[in-house]
Amino acid sequence: MDIKRVCVVGGGTMGNGIAHVFALKDFEVTLVEAKKELADKALAVIARNLDRQVAKGAVTAAGRDAALARIKPALSPKEAPGFQFAVEAVSERMELKKSVFRELDAAAAPGAILATNTSSLAVTEIAASVKDPSRVIGMHFMNPVPVMKLVELIRGLQTSDETYQAARELSIALGKTPASAKDFPGFISNRVLMPMINEAIFCLMEGVSTKEDIDAVMKLGMAHPMGPLQLADYIGLDVCLAIMEVLHQGFCDSKYRPCPLLRQMVQAGRLGVKSGSGFYDYPGK
Ligand code: CAA
Repeated sequence: MDIKRVCVVGGGTMGNGIAHVFALKDFEVTLVEAKKELADKALAVIARNLDRQVAKGAVTAAGRDAALARIKPALSPKEAPGFQFAVEAVSERMELKKSVFRELDAAAAPGAILATNTSSLAVTEIAASVKDPSRVIGMHFMNPVPVMKLVELIRGLQTSDETYQAARELSIALGKTPASAKDFPGFISNRVLMPMINEAIFCLMEGVSTKEDIDAVMKLGMAHPMGPLQLADYIGLDVCLAIMEVLHQGFCDSKYRPCPLLRQMVQAGRLGVKSGSGFYDYPGK
């Protein structure tokens, strides 16, 4: 499938990163946001992240300008002319995702593929909201999208081989390495990552060690780029809790119970980097 025009719905952290990587690889991108101010903000973040790449010599100034010119902001998928591939990257609420998929379905060119960047919700259920669920797939990018090499491809129960192949080829065209997973709670990435983060929070809650030493063990002892508590702050503690709930409910297994301290942090509004404090403080954020 020769894909040239894509529609990205949602310009938050993941959506703007996804639009960024498509535009850098010469795709025409429509970036859909609910309000003009949000689209403008997403474009400003993309420009800033492209500037980082220019400063590092990874992208030329002309390449940055051309990439930015390929991204057109819009308020609805209806304003994305003839898109052949869409990626939904709105917040992790099933009803919201289904309504975005219904809009995409109504606006899509015949044969267009509809992907969700969900980090843990059931792709099969999202797919059931469109006329042809065989054209729906999970395409889970990692944050920061311009940097991380992985795309997790999740086949829903009815995803066709053709859809899977197109998403796989597209991932490779974006310079990413695809890894495929079946549609089980948390797929691979969050089924493995989140229990590790949750266990680190149990270690902190039980006084096994300090946050600094828990992070140091995983950073220096296991060569992780960030310790689990720092990474949880970076992902967002509300997101971590929501994913643990999906695992807990999806498998009905107590080994996935969210740590009470994680729940308390979310109740306190200490969500990590985005709220200015989590396990660590982020003054000025
Ligand atoms: N856009 C473009 N470039 C970016 C960027 C962005 N948003 N963020 C970072 N970079 C670049 C920097 O410019 C820098 O480039 P060079 O290597 O060429 O110098 C490089 O990335 C490293 O950045 P920094 O020097 O600022 O900082 P760092 O070395 O501490 O790395 C990090 C930052 C890449 C975030 C690193 O700490 C890391 O890999 N952390 C772990 C990230 C991770 O685990 N992500 C997955 C989260 S889970 C998820 O996303 C899925 C889910 O469902 C929850």
